[in-house]
Amino acid sequence: MVTQTDNLNVQATDESTTPRALVCDFRPGLEGVPAVQSSISYVDGKAGILEYRGIPIEELATRSTFLETSFLLIWGYLPTEAELAEFQHDIQFHRRLKFRIRDMMKCFPESGHPMDALQASAAALGLFYSRRALLDPSYIRAAVIRLLAKIPTMTAAFQMIRKGNDPIQPRDDLDYAANFLYMLSEREPDPLAARVFDTCLTLHAEHTINASTFSALVTASTMTDPYAVVASAVGTLAGPLHGGANEEVIEMLEAIGSVEAVEGFVDRAIAEKSRIMGFGHRVYKVKDPRATILQQLAEQLFDSLGHDRHYDIALELERVVADRLGHKGIYPNVDFYSGLVYRRLGIPTDLFTPVFAIARVSGWLAHWREQLAANRIFRPTQLYGGEHGVHYVPIDERGPVQLAP
Ligand code: ACO
Repeated sequence: MVTQTDNLNVQATDESTTPRALVCDFRPGLEGVPAVQSSISYVDGKAGILEYRGIPIEELATRSTFLETSFLLIWGYLPTEAELAEFQHDIQFHRRLKFRIRDMMKCFPESGHPMDALQASAAALGLFYSRRALLDPSYIRAAVIRLLAKIPTMTAAFQMIRKGNDPIQPRDDLDYAANFLYMLSEREPDPLAARVFDTCLTLHAEHTINASTFSALVTASTMTDPYAVVASAVGTLAGPLHGGANEEVIEMLEAIGSVEAVEGFVDRAIAEKSRIMGFGHRVYKVKDPRATILQQLAEQLFDSLGHDRHYDIALELERVVADRLGHKGIYPNVDFYSGLVYRRLGIPTDLFTPVFAIARVSGWLAHWREQLAANRIFRPTQLYGGEHGVHYVPIDERGPVQLAP
């Protein structure tokens, strides 16, 4: 197998593994390398199947709620009525933020990205809830409740604060999704909007070992606190090749501007070898099943709350990309239609990725629990391609630096 290291004089730094074996095994981006054994979710990228704990995503999207699905992911079974009621009640009870957290958030620059604000706020929870009792089931449960409860409140609080307003207090009579939309605008959302948003959260709740979940697992494996685990995952989700893509999809649709301009845009992108945002996936080589459900939700919303002309551009883009790049398995991913749905729900573009994080907290926490049950600290190795035995040169004896071509 040819690898990126073939032209390097590589040597394993881990003596237990031979250099030859490492060269053969090296996969940039760890593509296809199993990092954990997990029973939380399953993806078949060729057949377009996604299951949470064995249940197809289509069934959960239509029959469950985000909090019930979170319980399923984290504890591994569908809750009884009493268990679900207690879970929902506890989350509702812990939605509020300590005034010091609100005050800390008021010091964040209003021009900062909400993902950075969320990462800092999630990490700060560890200061306020500093007991670290990873073997105590009641500590684990309390951390799960607190994170699921407070991440939406922190996201909405930053949105209000950066507009110069005080954060809106959560409303106990509203469910998880409706309450979040309410905290963004102080207006009670349309029931269809709340239901669609709840389904969006379910669709984004979990997706095997992607970049942010892997980041969560690496952090968790050091036995640090769950707030650090979630904060590191939020930082990883922020990048444009991962959760940040849904924001860029909207910017791209706006830049394309019209249905007629789509073909030219795609052909230029292919000629310039640039990425078309919202398309392609490391695992799916067909249309992402979540994109199919999101598209249906988008249509329901547009029928009820009014059309969005960017949806017509999106449909044409999907057609043209399938025509030009379908042979490479490039089809819409989860981010392609989610931005249009969120925009119709009145969510600002730069909150799309924090909304993704609100949902994915349940997947991260499920993997955190699974990791704790059979923990081994992540410590991969590397292929060293540098020099040996180089001597230190005093600064006044150094010539100009010869940069590698
Ligand atoms: N637009 C155009 N071409 C693409 C795209 C795209 N969005 N994605 C992949 N390709 C092409 C590549 O140019 C490459 O072509 P080549 O073989 O001729 O060189 C081929 O498809 C394979 O690409 P890879 O980079 O090997 O695919 P990889 O699995 O590493 O990338 C990724 C997956 C990062 C998601 C990629 O498809 C991408 O950058 N998409 C755009 C960003 C995006 O939408 N990200 C969200 C992903 S979903 C999520 O994280 C929740």
